[in-house]
Amino acid sequence: MTNAFSLFSSLKDRIARHEARVTTVGLGYVGLPLALTISETGFPTTGLDLNETRVAAINAGERVISYFAEDRIRNAVTGGRFAATQDFATLAEADVILICVPTPLSPAREPDLSYVLGAAEGIAGWLRPGQLVVLESTVWPGATATVVRPILERGGLRAGEDFFLAFSPEREDPGNHSFETRTIPKVVGADDARSRDLIDLFYSQIVTQTVPVSSLATAEAVKLAENSFRTVNIALVNEMKVALEAMGVDVWEVVRAAATKPFGYMPFYPGPGIGGDCIPVSPAYLSWRARDVGSSLPIVDLARTNNDNAPDMIAGRVAVEMSKRGGRPVAGARVLILGIAYKKDVEDTRVSPALAILRRLEAMGALCDFHDPYFPVMPLTRDDPDLAGRRSVPLTDEVVAGYDAVLVATDHTRIDYVLVARSARLLLDTRNVFAARGVVPAEGRFVKI
Ligand SMILES: NC(=O)c1ccc[n+]([C@@H]2O[C@H](COP(=O)([O-])OP(=O)(O)OC[C@H]3O[C@@H](n4cnc5c(N)ncnc54)[C@H](O)[C@@H]3O)[C@@H](O)[C@H]2O)c1
Repeated sequence: MTNAFSLFSSLKDRIARHEARVTTVGLGYVGLPLALTISETGFPTTGLDLNETRVAAINAGERVISYFAEDRIRNAVTGGRFAATQDFATLAEADVILICVPTPLSPAREPDLSYVLGAAEGIAGWLRPGQLVVLESTVWPGATATVVRPILERGGLRAGEDFFLAFSPEREDPGNHSFETRTIPKVVGADDARSRDLIDLFYSQIVTQTVPVSSLATAEAVKLAENSFRTVNIALVNEMKVALEAMGVDVWEVVRAAATKPFGYMPFYPGPGIGGDCIPVSPAYLSWRARDVGSSLPIVDLARTNNDNAPDMIAGRVAVEMSKRGGRPVAGARVLILGIAYKKDVEDTRVSPALAILRRLEAMGALCDFHDPYFPVMPLTRDDPDLAGRRSVPLTDEVVAGYDAVLVATDHTRIDYVLVARSARLLLDTRNVFAARGVVPAEGRFVKI
């Protein structure tokens, strides 16, 4: 029996018996739910994160992600199968290592793999024969093989022989109550048969369906295909919104009716732009890589530009409606923004279009405040460090009536839309939330934009 085969067989047995020790590197919106799901399946699991505050909060059983069940983290920690740590030395104990660190864009809007490189360097220091390392972060096709693998192999161990290397893209949808980590099929890919078998076996113990693909690059491309599809369709529906409005047609009604077609159509909804660390980012990884190999993706690039411009379009529209219906210029006007998260019912403002709109309105001279039930105080974000520390205003009739315009940027469930409709002097809705809830604001003071 060769050494490679015996390492493979031994890890396979440990995975099949749920004895393999798992470490997720990164305990964010992706790594934490993944780590908890794995520990709930019965694998002893450790979450490794550089963020001391987050590690302490998780070990104290705090619900650090608001849409988790109240006691999910506490149960995992007190149950003894899950703990968080900052100590990279614990990687020496792990059999399976899952990398779930951020992959943002650089200021030049190019892929920033610095967190992935940091995680790979950290793992390389503790890599031992027989471990399975899996990258879950979104990267361009080829990155795992050409960027991560050489770092891991620096100490002399070989992927597919001494240790195993796979890619499995995250498909987390924060706040989605219809699907959870366990019920979302997991794509798994590797460049060698042993790594592919191991990642497939591992995830088949955890999720309801695995989807094996033939290579690391294919698995990497799957994620980018999914997000580019969303990017293009969101740009399309926002473009249709403007054209249909000029024809006197409500795009929301059109999408709702079109969605009844049982094949060949999938609904996407208009809005103030796209946000989060995923959809606005990953198509840029695909485009960048396409250029790198002498190809191009003009449709994806056009959609990205349209989506990037959406917050500016909305801010411009606020100015137009204020002058037309509110009878006053945007400069000097008081505007209340409802919802600063990038989408409803999540406490995440990364790349939020609401913040881009706020910035744009303030550049036009407006005086903006916000209300968001998830953010009593504006958090620090990479894109908007200057906004940090601002306070959410309370939502009362008196407060709402004090603004020249109220803009619904994010349709959180916990906002009192009846109160808003009753008191707003001018109400601008980017999410169709009033119609969706059967709340009818006064004619002449309300417009969907
Ligand atoms: N959030 C989503 O909805 C979503 C969905 C699908 C895929 N993704 C992708 O998943 C990846 C992770 O995203 P996320 O939203 O979980 O990010 P996140 O910012 O919520 O969490 C990342 C965590 O990694 C930690 N970290 C960074 N570098 C580290 C290192 N070297 N060692 C240990 N910990 C480290 C950070 O402290 C942070 O807690 C990204 O590639 C993203 O594009 C995100």
